Amino acid sequence: WGEEGHETVGQIAQNFLQPDIARKVANLFQDKSFGGKLPLATLWADDVKKKKGSPFAFWSAPLHFIDTLDDPGKSCSVNMERDCPDARCIVGAIANYTTQLDCTNGYDKFTRDFALRFLAHFIGDITQPLHVSGREKGGNGETVTFDGRRGNLHSIWDTQMVEKRLRDFGSDIVQYSNFLTKEIQSGKYASEKDSWVSCISSPKAATLCPLTWAIDTNAINCPFVWSVDKKPGVDLGGDYYQAAVPIIDKQIAKGGYRLGVLLNSILSKNC
Ligand code: ADE
Ligand code: ZN
Ligand code: ZN
Repeated sequence: WGEEGHETVGQIAQNFLQPDIARKVANLFQDKSFGGKLPLATLWADDVKKKKGSPFAFWSAPLHFIDTLDDPGKSCSVNMERDCPDARCIVGAIANYTTQLDCTNGYDKFTRDFALRFLAHFIGDITQPLHVSGREKGGNGETVTFDGRRGNLHSIWDTQMVEKRLRDFGSDIVQYSNFLTKEIQSGKYASEKDSWVSCISSPKAATLCPLTWAIDTNAINCPFVWSVDKKPGVDLGGDYYQAAVPIIDKQIAKGGYRLGVLLNSILSKNC
């Protein structure tokens, strides 16, 4: 996702943090970074990726996605051996940073701070369909038109469609986040929200959750995201955008809820 998508994920997660966990989160960020809150912390992993010469930039770039073998004619699927060699992909990254954040594993405070920053970002990215697609470099190589402008399919999903959706909420991230928070608590996602986070209570949560979440996201690609291949030249700001809105809402809601519930779980341990 772009900045708006990530910040919304962080804001929803912050809404679900238990008060004692919110305090632990604030204390984990060194030097009172990000105002001690998740929304701005979600942006850090993209900031360091963009900084030329940053030690993080080079090695962290592949951790934002997993290149699966999406073939709409056949099928979409996730295969760890094939798509995530040496755990150098978003699924491996979430597993590693979940482990590093857990205080029972003995990592120092600097490692745990960075683990939290990366987790807050990657748990957002893993709900963006094209971050779980290897077709045309996750859509970066797919030229499309959106509301009269040429762009690529990846950035349409990361940014343009989220910004257009946000305009329904006066381009106010807090308003959009509170709308999705209500839908999770008592609205259209209330009955399915437990299924979004059921892996977190497993003893194998660190490895099970990111794989479960990648498979969940990847399943959107063949039936919907890559249906653009069947209508070349069509402006995606019309019917495609309208059909994408409920998917965008749900994917961002999932990211926020999963991040909140995962942090409530990991950080409830006392060391
Ligand atoms: N580069 C290659 N594949 C990518 C993907 N799925 N998402 C973002 N960047 C990529
Ligand atoms: Zn992206
Ligand atoms: Zn990213």
